[in-house]
Amino acid sequence: MKKRCPSSLLLLLLLWQFTGCKPTDQHGSTAQTQGVTGEKGMVVSAHPEASRIGLAILQQGGNAYDAAVATGFALAVAYPVAGNIGGGGFLVYRKQDGEIGALDYREKAPKAASRDMYLDAQKNVIADASTLGHLAVGVPGAVDGLAAMHQKLGSLPWATVVQPAIDLARKGVVLTEREARMLNEDRENFIKANKFIPSVVRDTPWWKGDVLALPELASSLERIRDKGRAGFYEGQTADLLVKEMQRGGGIISHQDLKEYHSVWRTPITGTYRGYKVISMPPPSSGGIALLQLLQMVEPYDLSKWGWQQPNTVHVMTEAQRRVYADRATYLGDPDFVKVPVSSLLSPAYLKNRMATLDMERATPSSQVQAGQLLARESDQTTHYSIVDQWGNAASITTTLNGGYGSKVVVEGAGFILNNEMDDFSAKPGVPNMFGLIGGEANAIAPGKRMLSSMTPTILEKDGKLFMVVGTPGGSTIITSVFQAILNVVDHGMGMQQAVAAPRFHHQWLPDRIEPEAAALSPEVREVLQKRGHTLQERGRYGAVDGILKRKDGRWEGGADPRGDDTALGY
Ligand code: DON
Repeated sequence: MKKRCPSSLLLLLLLWQFTGCKPTDQHGSTAQTQGVTGEKGMVVSAHPEASRIGLAILQQGGNAYDAAVATGFALAVAYPVAGNIGGGGFLVYRKQDGEIGALDYREKAPKAASRDMYLDAQKNVIADASTLGHLAVGVPGAVDGLAAMHQKLGSLPWATVVQPAIDLARKGVVLTEREARMLNEDRENFIKANKFIPSVVRDTPWWKGDVLALPELASSLERIRDKGRAGFYEGQTADLLVKEMQRGGGIISHQDLKEYHSVWRTPITGTYRGYKVISMPPPSSGGIALLQLLQMVEPYDLSKWGWQQPNTVHVMTEAQRRVYADRATYLGDPDFVKVPVSSLLSPAYLKNRMATLDMERATPSSQVQAGQLLARESDQTTHYSIVDQWGNAASITTTLNGGYGSKVVVEGAGFILNNEMDDFSAKPGVPNMFGLIGGEANAIAPGKRMLSSMTPTILEKDGKLFMVVGTPGGSTIITSVFQAILNVVDHGMGMQQAVAAPRFHHQWLPDRIEPEAAALSPEVREVLQKRGHTLQERGRYGAVDGILKRKDGRWEGGADPRGDDTALGY
């Protein structure tokens, strides 16, 4: 297959150590311009073992949702930095017959949570309280979500899709260099957050190739295999989790666990240049923000201006600052606050939002507020994309929030708990770990879901499945998915190239464009600075994993070379 790297891009990409045009990785397939292709099905996830397990399920006749559940549990074992049973996530699906849907298995605030729980007597935010340790933990949704997904959409027996993760946890995971490094980096935090020494901590540093065996996690997964959701939210696992909470000053109760339920929601849909875009509704901000961005840039000929050229970057940035201002004001859990979805997506509103665009000058974020209605270099969430031989698609983003979440390991149960409570706005105007600010709509309340940026997305072309995409990256998730879509639709890239291409980010506040090292040439930076933009380079971020239908009918998997991400097809 001929490489399709545009030549101007080629030079940039070649300069960049980890780009799509240079085969660099240890898994063979992920770092080439041309992604892995498959005729029947494809799994792209953050870890080679998880992709292998998902592919095996597809090959034995399972559908995309069987593979999604198996991959989800496998990530909880093989990719503990973000894969989880102690966190939560979102599924966006499209079935072969065109039916679409979304599953929200986001964590919830425990019943004993309160609006000011992270503030001291002077009403200042207490450092680390919402990020490290037991109080940071939201009621996990992952197991309920995977069980609901399987019940509604799966076809193989439940035990068949859970078992491979159990086997992996018993046998042990061979650590990649990246995972070993991340475990070493968080060693002290694990020690601080736990009253015992969890198995992820050892006296000597972890090295690539070391085997991490997780027998307690295997037993927890066996209870889930045998009892479904009750194997987690009731009985021994629930007892261990509540005991862990009590030991460390956490507030999750048996009742919180028992009452947790994931929710089927209607996806956010819209169009961009003739493609139908299907994405995650609130409590994620992702779908709304993505559709706002796409529709705000649609009037401009980005393709003619070119990829990462001044006008393209300028227009995208101006759209981003306006969209993130809306996010901070209007978005929250739709079960608690009224989210004005149709107003935020109305063409007249979006046109009006861009009416202040000046092509020659950046609009300072201080002059941009939400519209009148008509740490960060981390991959600590994880996205996986799956299609099967029938054309069913699953787009799933799941998270513990920060890397290894709260760092709390449930003693005796071997799994890590999230620190998703930090995604709430602890105090209006005070940024969370992703620098995002929020207000009333995303204030803490018992039983409420915290606002997310996760943007699992599916695109249709001419009524047929075209693309499945998503990424980790906290606040950068939305702009990374946005760029992956533009890379394909406007700039003619294939999937691998689109996920590997260097990116930039702007989120209203702080008021600056944050490009990866190779994202914008020195000349382009100069033009942007002349127009009044501030630029601050940041390390690589995100791990976009996607699947694209090629013109020849094959699926192309794009696995982000920034991580250990692996595409496997057949
Ligand atoms: O739901 C959210 O938006 C965040 N909890 C996602 C966190 C994340 O992507 C961390 N990875 N870098």
